[in-house]
Amino acid sequence: MCGIVGYAGARPALNIVLDGLRRLEYRGYDSAGVAIVDGGLFTAKRAGKLANLEKALQDEAGLSAGTTGIGHTRWATHGGPTDRNAHPHRSADGRVAVIHNGIIENFAKLRAELEASGIEFASDTDTECAAHLLAIELQTAVGDTPGARLAEAMRAVCRRLEGAFTLLAVDVQAPGVVVGARRNSPLVVGRGTGENYLASDVSAFIEHTREAVELGQDQVVLISADDIVITDFHGAAAEGRPFHIDWDASAAEKSGYEYFMLKEIAEQPHAVAETLLGRLNEHGDLMLDEVRLTDQDLRDVDKVFIVACGTAYHSGMVAKYAIEHWTRIPCEVELASEFRYRDPVLDRSTLVVAISQSGETMDTLMALRHAKEQKARVLAICNTNGSTIPRESDAVLYTHAGPEIAVASTKAFLTQLVACYLVGLHLAQVRGVKYADEVAAVVAQLQEMPGKVEQVLDMMEPIRLLARELAEAKSVLFIGRHVSYPVALEGALKLKELAYMHAEGFAAGELKHGPIALIDHGTPVVCVVPSPRGRGVLHDKVVSNIQEVRARGARTIVIAEEGDTAVAPYADHLFYVPVTPTLLAPLVTTVPLQVLACEIASARGHDVDQPRNLAKSVTVE
Ligand code: G6P
Repeated sequence: MCGIVGYAGARPALNIVLDGLRRLEYRGYDSAGVAIVDGGLFTAKRAGKLANLEKALQDEAGLSAGTTGIGHTRWATHGGPTDRNAHPHRSADGRVAVIHNGIIENFAKLRAELEASGIEFASDTDTECAAHLLAIELQTAVGDTPGARLAEAMRAVCRRLEGAFTLLAVDVQAPGVVVGARRNSPLVVGRGTGENYLASDVSAFIEHTREAVELGQDQVVLISADDIVITDFHGAAAEGRPFHIDWDASAAEKSGYEYFMLKEIAEQPHAVAETLLGRLNEHGDLMLDEVRLTDQDLRDVDKVFIVACGTAYHSGMVAKYAIEHWTRIPCEVELASEFRYRDPVLDRSTLVVAISQSGETMDTLMALRHAKEQKARVLAICNTNGSTIPRESDAVLYTHAGPEIAVASTKAFLTQLVACYLVGLHLAQVRGVKYADEVAAVVAQLQEMPGKVEQVLDMMEPIRLLARELAEAKSVLFIGRHVSYPVALEGALKLKELAYMHAEGFAAGELKHGPIALIDHGTPVVCVVPSPRGRGVLHDKVVSNIQEVRARGARTIVIAEEGDTAVAPYADHLFYVPVTPTLLAPLVTTVPLQVLACEIASARGHDVDQPRNLAKSVTVE
């Protein structure tokens, strides 16, 4: 969704804001714009990627040297991605500039009211309403300073808005001040020395400060060079939660890789190891990060629902196999966007696990809130400290993947898998269905996974070569059974997201009930084969499914466990992954599919990090 950044300090704001936008561009890249207060109000905005705005600014005669500014990178909701719809939006009197992330749901009514009072709109956006309303409220706002009056006017505007929004505003009459507000959309404060920041996420200001403040729901914040003042929408003083950012600026850089996605794929062994770090205490008990639940609460759980979107949903599908196997508690996995609308049966003995890399996905947040209203317990698996989903949950397990910048999720997925396994083991331990030594044995297997992921990464050259051959394919199908079924879905999603190719994942056993009609001569079918050990019956069934598609002309691309010779005669292309316990196999089998999608997209000439129409964090429903 949109990226937002604000700066108030002593240095020229323009470059600081542009640098921040560069780091936030993964949130949206339809258009970009800045507003700087420099005696007057300098604004510039352009459709397209940030580079278009930067080019336009280079062509400007004199760049603004103002030390207060805001910037925006957009993922369009209301109004197409044009220059005129790009943010910032100015009030009719030219006094304020506003940027926004989210959707103002009552904007049609507000726009009609403003137009009836004679205001002419310069864009098709919902955001512009907020700019005009702010200027109107400023005419009567009371406060000791111009900044206090801007904050007061912002509170009055927020009380009139419905929906989800993060707003930042600057006022030509309040130099040195940026005011922000948030409801259901992300906004964090960066606390500097003699300067302060506001941003959608910490990556925007990480090179300047690692001290951040998390804002609560329905809060307004004023920043100046030396001050951070937080209130609720009615002006009552409020506190933010300070936190330290434990990764540095280089974590959000490409560090020599052509794409962030390639870097993030390569970081997976480290990310998995970090997520596992320090999870067993001296008694062998598993540790989550924040727990506001008692062991008795967890013992009372009689049903688990996992809610998530996109790639996180696929990690939840894997979790279902592990949680049910280890705990014997029924576990359902649900798309967050569907969950609350079908009125699920929830009560205080239901545990809802919300999985979200960003911690801000609106569908997941709304599912979580619905669950809490029904008195269910909520546990979050999240990668982003300071985000909304963990703050509103009863317990949190952070995936320590570091910042994920590429829109298509990779290292977040692997660490979500690890977190799901840990949650399953924790539940099993607390409920007494697994002894500490049994838990420790699985944790020891998990500890071997970073090395195994590393081995897979070292064997990727043949996948890259194959990817170039497949770049012109019309369609690629993916099949798997058991935990390999979600892996097949994730492989297909990656290809759709990045290469804009038709790709579908199927449960291998379901093929014969319809999808096998799609197989034509030469159709590539990626087959994720379970281990021949353990649940060997699954393996044999998938091998039969491979024979079925091959008999109909498919070109089979097989991902199988080292030593699995039984599958070799039916594989047109065979890639081995290290021997791994059945439930943990997705940690290794997903990696070749990530590389395949990345390479096919690159061979087709697409921007791997910023695929068309997508945004990394979708903060609207
Ligand atoms: C978007 C992204 C996906 C991601 C999904 C859920 O659709 O493009 O890559 O999996 O959101 O995001 P979350 O931050 O909740 O994990």
